[in-house]
Amino acid sequence: MSYQDVYNGWKKDPEAFWMQAADAIDWDTPPSQALFDKGDHMYEWFSDAKVNTCWNAVDRHVEAGRGEQTAIIHDSPITHSKREISYVELRNRVASLAGALRAKGVEKGDRVIIYMPMIPEALEAMLACARLGAIHSVVFGGFASNELAVRIDDAKPKAIIAASCGLEPGRVVHYKPLLDGAIDLATHKPDFCVIFQREQEVAQLIEGRDFNWHGFQYGVEPAECVPVEGNHPAYILYTSGTTGQPKGVVRHTAGHLVALNWTMKNVFNVDPGDVFWAASDVGWVVGHSYITYAPLIHGNTTIVFEGKPVGTPDAGTFWRVISEHKVKTFFTAPTAFRAVKREDPQGEFVKKYDMSCMEQVFLAGERADPDTIIWAQEQLQKPIIDHWWQTELGYPAICNPVGIELLPVKLGSPSLPMPGYDMKVLDEGGNELPPGELGAIVSKLPLPPGTLPTLWNAEDRFKKSYLTNFPGYYETGDAGMIDEDGYVYIMARTDDVINVAGHRLSTGGMEEVLAGHPDVAECAVIGVADQLKGQMPVGFLCLNAGTDRDHGEVVQEVVKLVREKIGPVAAFKLAVVVDRLPKTRSGKILRGTMVSIADGTEWKMPATIDDPVILDEITVALQSIGYAKS
Ligand code: COA
Ligand code: AMP
Repeated sequence: MSYQDVYNGWKKDPEAFWMQAADAIDWDTPPSQALFDKGDHMYEWFSDAKVNTCWNAVDRHVEAGRGEQTAIIHDSPITHSKREISYVELRNRVASLAGALRAKGVEKGDRVIIYMPMIPEALEAMLACARLGAIHSVVFGGFASNELAVRIDDAKPKAIIAASCGLEPGRVVHYKPLLDGAIDLATHKPDFCVIFQREQEVAQLIEGRDFNWHGFQYGVEPAECVPVEGNHPAYILYTSGTTGQPKGVVRHTAGHLVALNWTMKNVFNVDPGDVFWAASDVGWVVGHSYITYAPLIHGNTTIVFEGKPVGTPDAGTFWRVISEHKVKTFFTAPTAFRAVKREDPQGEFVKKYDMSCMEQVFLAGERADPDTIIWAQEQLQKPIIDHWWQTELGYPAICNPVGIELLPVKLGSPSLPMPGYDMKVLDEGGNELPPGELGAIVSKLPLPPGTLPTLWNAEDRFKKSYLTNFPGYYETGDAGMIDEDGYVYIMARTDDVINVAGHRLSTGGMEEVLAGHPDVAECAVIGVADQLKGQMPVGFLCLNAGTDRDHGEVVQEVVKLVREKIGPVAAFKLAVVVDRLPKTRSGKILRGTMVSIADGTEWKMPATIDDPVILDEITVALQSIGYAKS
């Protein structure tokens, strides 16, 4: 079947399409229907089914006689260690952990926060929650205490599972003090914490609140899988919105299982038993979907990689892992390839490894620039597939579905919408734009299974953020166009979210931190183009009248403040002090114009600008830090 046949088949009868995809899942009670229309543009999938995610990701493969197959390979160039865990070992480890959590009172529906680095125990913690029907929320290790506290107060977890430390090149990330700090800051307090002590750092436990990962499992009865309703939340994953308050994306259990399983063959072209590697982090949606759940649900071997594309130890790490573990499909972010390309433009490391096992490479998380794609094609001699999706959607929405058919690649486009997505480009008034014209990218409701049904504790925000501007459509927050052949091009965000090294960050959140500095009267943060990371945040600070502090000192303080409050992942290193910010007459800061000036791209003087002279001051300030080159 061609892509067009599959897509048309879905469009003709979505209900039948998804019911058929659901056949691949082991149900306790099969769904009687796929779509449940809740009214008011709210939808759910497979709600009347009963199912367990951990059963489908782990136990059923053991039952089917594949217990000895490797489920997880941990490859950590940072600790110089490698480890393999079979499906049967994984089942036993997860059942034991789930049993210990249950013995401490964790039940179906309870929330559990997971704050862990790239170790198999992170996946085991997720699966143990799934086994009990507890709702996990994984927080990325590059976020600091304050961000963790915000998530604790929103999710109100009964337990927090953390590791003693994470490891960044040349630096130990002390998770335990960050965790303790977050619990101090948060209003909600968890009943208990479970700490996985790593060799590299043994954390101090708080008596009565903290339990050792191994110790607390001693003598407990392993837990069986608890069937949950199809619309039971499997997890909450917080992602950046326009403010400092992150959005808690909810994922329902059944749709998640059906959709992720479908993508493994149809999109990523792997069969059960094949090795699949997504070089991301469990703290991001890519890690949820394509390190933990999809490969395991589909019976693949997944790789948990604790390292960086360069420097651990060199720019050949990716190629070593691919050849050593026989990776068939590899998934990474364009920024990672840019980092490798910068160190090894001629691909000297590529030549050292036999990568004949690898059939295709997928890139996502940010725009894949044509230069990077061409470089990767030349070096690897394999299809390099750009694909587009978001935390909200959970799996590829615009893609070149290699498992169905390798479509002609058009550089700069992640290709065509997948079944489930009827995408349009609309103008501000909600009118559909013709091919080639730039507008808001939307998808007709309902969204397919496995996408967000709502935001945790924030249904109004869900509706306002995604459903209100264009009634009947899901608003992606991205701008772009669709060409004559239906290929979609993603050009920019329509909000103040920026993308730094494939990480989605809120400039609004950073502005809230800057505004908290005692000497800052007003501020703005924009994302400027960066050759390696795609975008980098730059802050503009207006100091309080009468403040005669050294500007360099204030800049250093705000840089430190963002690192403390949001975390190192914000990569906030650049700020300048200016007298005023450019605004419209109604007081809106002209961030878009500032970005164009910084990037040296063409821009027009906004008709509504209050005082054009300020733009000259902004240009000079940006030039002082190496931007706005004429
Ligand atoms: N825990 C703690 N700190 C972390 C962290 C984690 N899990 N991940 C990143 N950080 C820190 C880094 O140590 C760095 O700190 P520093 O300011 O002290 O140097 C900071 O956050 C910024 O990290 P990063 O953006 O990763 O930059 P880098 O300079 O360390 O590495 C790249 C650059 C391109 C190699 C790296 O960004 C990369 O591998 N990107 C790929 C991203 C990716 O796969 N994203 C998933 C989307 S699919
Ligand atoms: P996240 O929710 O962190 O996965 O970020 C999703 C956002 O990243 C999207 O809304 C896009 O802005 C951007 N993005 C992800 N993949 C791509 C891609 N292939 N091309 C362009 N932008 C992308």
